[in-house]
Amino acid sequence: MKALVTGGAGFIGSHVVDRLLEEGYEVTAVDNLSEGHLENVAHLKGDKRFRFVKLDLKDAKATEKAVAGNDVIFHMAAQANIRKSIVDHRGDLDNNLIPMISLLDGMIKHKVNDMIFASSSAVYGEAPVVPTPEDYLSKQTSLYGASKLAAEAWSNAYSQFSPIRVWSFRFANVVGERCRRGVIWDFVHKLQKNPKELEILGNGKQSKEYLYVKDCVEGMMVGWQKTTGPVEAFNLGQPRQTLVDEVADIVVQEMRLDRVLRKYTGGEHGWIGDNKLVELSLEKMKKIGWVPGVSSHEAISKTARWILSNS
Ligand SMILES: NC(=O)c1ccc[n+]([C@@H]2O[C@H](COP(=O)([O-])OP(=O)(O)OC[C@H]3O[C@@H](n4cnc5c(N)ncnc54)[C@H](O)[C@@H]3O)[C@@H](O)[C@H]2O)c1
Repeated sequence: MKALVTGGAGFIGSHVVDRLLEEGYEVTAVDNLSEGHLENVAHLKGDKRFRFVKLDLKDAKATEKAVAGNDVIFHMAAQANIRKSIVDHRGDLDNNLIPMISLLDGMIKHKVNDMIFASSSAVYGEAPVVPTPEDYLSKQTSLYGASKLAAEAWSNAYSQFSPIRVWSFRFANVVGERCRRGVIWDFVHKLQKNPKELEILGNGKQSKEYLYVKDCVEGMMVGWQKTTGPVEAFNLGQPRQTLVDEVADIVVQEMRLDRVLRKYTGGEHGWIGDNKLVELSLEKMKKIGWVPGVSSHEAISKTARWILSNS
């Protein structure tokens, strides 16, 4: 069996590559390396079942062609930085929606039916309904979330006139080894610069879920293998929410610091598009037998430890 992993040199994509190789797949990872790192797949050098191809998914023809010969596509590539969307208004369209369309066209052309898509809890915007179930539709708060929802919508529509099946997984915050952005990365680096003071964006009370990357990958495998499609959306998160202030506590503890003065930029949101509460309903995944194995606390600690030993 052959799999194509887009964004395969990225954080989550590289863990998907590892998992698929463990399962016995031959894997091609494509990435334009805009945010990805070849060192995320360096440990696979010499593995004949793995190849890396530098490819920009904005190139529609090359993207369609990359689909050929595979049995399944794990589409993990994206412009994944919500804050970037505020200054680069077309980035989410060009890197998130258009590549989805090129991949879907490639799937029709080359008769590849299954895609596993990395969507996001950002599709719910700031949902007033919590825990938020998969069938909840809300106002968009970021171009990134809008692009993920649009990509899901496009794939749903394609499944109406083709045999394509798409499983969309709406991740909460995913953390773990090789995670190089987000709140834990930010805190560790600020504290390395100044161990006495920590700037926290917002009021520190934003409440989110932190899902360990291997649990995230396991969730995608379970959802894909245990349901039939043709279009499915699943939340992948943690049953317990963690405040940004608690993330700071864990990072400070891992760095063995004390008496760190916290300075809050203030307000309920850290930035435009930052949702102050993410609480996903996990009932749909629970029904098919998936619950995360690693707690938020442990996932945050593991991430901080990895960042500290790799920076
Ligand atoms: N990490 C999270 O907390 C989180 C949460 C929700 C959803 N997601 C989604 O999961 C997926 C993986 O995220 P991640 O955290 O690993 O981010 P990441 O930035 O590490 O991985 C994304 C990869 O896509 C690549 N990429 C971007 N644009 C590309 C293009 N035009 N052509 C080819 N490659 C391109 C980047 O170089 C990068 O390696 C993304 O789709 C992201 O939107 C992540």
